[in-house]
Amino acid sequence: MEMKDQAIIVTGGASGIGREACLALAGKGANLIVADFNIDGAKAVAAEAEALGVKAFAYKVDVSKAEDVEALVEFAVEKLGTLNGMFNNAGIGLVKPFLEMDPASYLKVIEVDQHSVYYGLYYGAKKMVALGAKGTFVNTASIYGSVAARGSFNYNAAKAAVVSMSRSGALELAEHGIRVVGVAPGFIDTPILGEDESVKAPLAAQHMHNRLIQPEKVASVVAFLFTDAASAINGATVPVDDGFLS
Ligand code: NAI
Repeated sequence: MEMKDQAIIVTGGASGIGREACLALAGKGANLIVADFNIDGAKAVAAEAEALGVKAFAYKVDVSKAEDVEALVEFAVEKLGTLNGMFNNAGIGLVKPFLEMDPASYLKVIEVDQHSVYYGLYYGAKKMVALGAKGTFVNTASIYGSVAARGSFNYNAAKAAVVSMSRSGALELAEHGIRVVGVAPGFIDTPILGEDESVKAPLAAQHMHNRLIQPEKVASVVAFLFTDAASAINGATVPVDDGFLS
């Protein structure tokens, strides 16, 4: 129960990595806001977290909208009494060859995967500093923040920015007792990869163990990064990629 009474927002909490992170954080005693576009999914995860003995509230958010994220932070403080960090995790992919990567397709992913992390850090940290609350932000980047993938010009750019924002955010917020770290998943077995085995198998083959990574394996690292045991990890983005980047 090393996170007992800590108040954490998880975006993209309805599914995949976010859902597992909610359960891992609840297992450590953290109270949660399960924030997602998919409010029914968020409600189901909040109920699962509550069954582990913590407070958990679902909240409908579009993380690509500044005003939504600002309101999410207000909601968290209203419901949980304080704020000790956020898992800025919601994200999408939109794969297209570069010559079809029109501005709308480019910007959609930049807004959801990149701007959302800035909004979370900005509104979350401002609120924490105003409250005198300490804590941690964890941002979901990707191995594709470090290497190029075909059809992913938008996603590569967004995730590289997330790696950078974890670094800069950490530098600027350390004096307030706030850490910022990233996590860079490899290929994780979640709905974002779709159901087509002919797509998934070549992804799995790029891991040292030739299998997709289960979302719980990312979640356990994320939950650790929020704890005091990780207090010397700051600004870094930790790969959870079964050796992909090694
Ligand atoms: P997922 O599709 O299972 O979960 C993503 C969640 O984000 C969904 O619940 C969705 O409703 C929510 N979401 C999407 N757009 C949103 C918006 N505008 N506002 C609020 N919520 C929104 O996918 P997964 O795999 O759990 O993805 C989580 C994060 O992990 C994403 O940032 C993704 O880019 C990243 N990631 C995933 C990898 C994978 O192989 N699955 C690999 C590397 C990074």
